[in-house]
Amino acid sequence: MSNLHDCAQRYGTVTRLLHWSMAVLLGWQFVTVLAHVLLPDSALDSFAWSTHKATGLLLMILVVIRLGWAFYSRNRRPTAVSSLARLGHLTLYGLLFVIPFIALLRQYGSGREFVAFGMTLMPGFSDGKIEWMIAPASLLHGNLGWLLLALIIGHVAMAFIHRHQGGEDVLARMIGK
Ligand code: HEM
Ligand code: HEM
Repeated sequence: MSNLHDCAQRYGTVTRLLHWSMAVLLGWQFVTVLAHVLLPDSALDSFAWSTHKATGLLLMILVVIRLGWAFYSRNRRPTAVSSLARLGHLTLYGLLFVIPFIALLRQYGSGREFVAFGMTLMPGFSDGKIEWMIAPASLLHGNLGWLLLALIIGHVAMAFIHRHQGGEDVLARMIGK
């Protein structure tokens, strides 16, 4: 089996590229929200926040590819170290899908034009708003976003705890040979 694919001992190149590119984009996504909340109206806030929707759109696209790849590879991945780890990864996947999905739904329902990367992705409309498309994100988008940040911090901590406290060195599966 080529290095592209996962196997029982380690994740392959495709999984690693998806994992680390999304980690970098999510890192930036949380810079945008932290700057927006902690440094409102600063230069960092105005620049970073202007990229929040486009970064979120990229993450939406990547997570769909990643979910497809994870499903395709489901029988040849390293087994999770515990059922809690498995549940944690599933929750991360769930949040990574739901958070941008409901935001894009709200964007559409607002009737406002949505332009990202120079492309008009939603032309917008002028006859009112679609309330049921707006409600889920208004209720949950931000809260689930902060929950995701907390889970990611826990996830990173667990990776290092496993590496340094003996047992399975899970980090090697995602970065090693
Ligand atoms: C994985 C992707 C995303 C993450 C982790 C994320 C995270 C967050 C977080 C934590 C907040 C709350 C900030 C606060 O408390 O003030 C927020 C707000 C917001 N996000 Fe996102 N976001 C993502 C994708 C998107 C996308 C795709 C869009 C739109 C197309 C979007 C539009 C907004 C808007 C308009 C707000 C301000 C209103 C609100 O708090 O709901 N986000 N986002
Ligand atoms: C920033 C956002 C991150 C998210 C959303 C995330 C999500 C995930 C998910 C869903 C998995 C399961 C395998 C997969 O399907 O890809 C995983 C595995 C893993 N991640 Fe992350 N990750 C993030 C960042 C990090 C960082 C910064 C580290 C480094 C310390 C890390 C270390 C690992 C390791 C070691 C595994 C393998 C765990 C195992 O095989 O049991 N992750 N990650």
